[in-house]
Amino acid sequence: MGLRRVTSRKGSMADVPSDLLDQINRLEELFTVPTDKLKAITDHFVSELTKGLTEEGGSIPMNPTWCMGFPDGYETGTFLALDMGGTNLRVCEITLTEEKGEFDIIQSKYKMPEELKTGTADELWGYVADCLQQFIEYHHGDEELDQLPLGFTFSYPATQDYIDHGVLQRWTKGFDIDGVEGQDVVPPFEAALAERGVPIKLTALINDTTGTLIASAYTDTEMKIGCIFGTGCNAAYMENCGSIPKLAHMKLDPDHPMAINCEWGAFDNEHQVLPRTPYDIIIDKESPRPGQQAFEKMLAGLYLGEIFRLVLLDLHQNPDCKIFEGQDVGLLDKPYSLDASFLSAIEEDPFENLSETHDLFQNKLGIKATKPELELSHRLAVLIGTRAARLSACGVAAICKKKGWDKAHVGADGSVFNKYPHFKVRGAQALKEILGWPAGKGKGRGDPVEILPAEDGSGVGAALIAALTLKRVQEGNVAGIRDPEGMLKGTRAAKKGDEV
Ligand code: BGC
Repeated sequence: MGLRRVTSRKGSMADVPSDLLDQINRLEELFTVPTDKLKAITDHFVSELTKGLTEEGGSIPMNPTWCMGFPDGYETGTFLALDMGGTNLRVCEITLTEEKGEFDIIQSKYKMPEELKTGTADELWGYVADCLQQFIEYHHGDEELDQLPLGFTFSYPATQDYIDHGVLQRWTKGFDIDGVEGQDVVPPFEAALAERGVPIKLTALINDTTGTLIASAYTDTEMKIGCIFGTGCNAAYMENCGSIPKLAHMKLDPDHPMAINCEWGAFDNEHQVLPRTPYDIIIDKESPRPGQQAFEKMLAGLYLGEIFRLVLLDLHQNPDCKIFEGQDVGLLDKPYSLDASFLSAIEEDPFENLSETHDLFQNKLGIKATKPELELSHRLAVLIGTRAARLSACGVAAICKKKGWDKAHVGADGSVFNKYPHFKVRGAQALKEILGWPAGKGKGRGDPVEILPAEDGSGVGAALIAALTLKRVQEGNVAGIRDPEGMLKGTRAAKKGDEV
């Protein structure tokens, strides 16, 4: 067991040989994003956000979501929420009660089998419908049910002409299921439910970022942006219809709000401003969708471990500085064998001699790393984690700049935001550098633009969006609703609304 580290790692490089130090310096250069660069990225980001809203469009899809307003806390009704995430599939039943901002929730989680992500569309929708069926049977047994309204969190870029429809633009986050891209995902999903006789009516197809925005706004009226920093990375915010030229033909009230799912993972697909390293280029080339999600691939959780792995492997193969000499690197050689939690654990190693990192390398990779190699690995994890947080801040700053917001609360969720050490503080620091408020405030708390842990977007957020949709249809706002009568017919929440 090593000595507990009480000071920073300054000076810890003293016994690192010069060839490794040279490499560390090279990595510092590659992965550090200085303030000026953050500002340049943000400025380009602002123009790309604007471009995405135009008829011609740009790389960032800026998808209108037909979620047309914030909740006021008085939404009521019982809703199902389904979240098809990368690791789990979560089903919730949420009852928004008469008390302002209150709700009851029951939920079940199902494992999302890895092979589904590259299987067939039928397998995917069949599995999702099976989970919903199990949920209903478990929680409602033989009860006679009305059609329960469902908010389906489908966290991939989708074009929505209607809120209960969504044409998948492209798979992200390593999903690669044939025959889904370019198609409306709702009909095959509903067909799988109908086949099983599951009494569910899809009311709203939503993105996790929109859910996060709405759920967070339910409890915080300053909330202006919803972000996910997880396996993937993205944000949503409320635009006014008059600022969305690509919807001009619909003649919507220009002052009416419309949530935009930015899909900012696609920022800079043309490689104009992001400081890509050779490792980012390999990640892109080897991914199922090369040329897509350039921004996301530099900072989202799915890729952090892979960037780290590629650097270490490169250094192992580098004749000028061979790390892990004489060791079997078979495990390190396996793509995606390390995930972001490996870097988190390294960054969290509390010991001066990095003994936990040493054990991690040994247990997970079968590599006995020397002290200098551990120092290099630690520094590399810090560089990759810091770059991710700083680049993330560019997206947040860009939305604020575009909207002219000097102050905003940003609701954030996702494994990287919640679990990656120092991500929040590093992000807050970068925001300060970009937006330029005075030093002095501690750790981002109370800053003019503040990124806060979000409420449950894919549960409560999805239910709220379903509730808001039914409410506005009842009130006669049927913009982005394919079949308003059909949407209201038979749903339990609609009945409840009728009684009010
Ligand atoms: C998807 C987005 C999603 C984000 C976070 C990205 O890969 O394209 O739709 O919001 O991941 O889950």
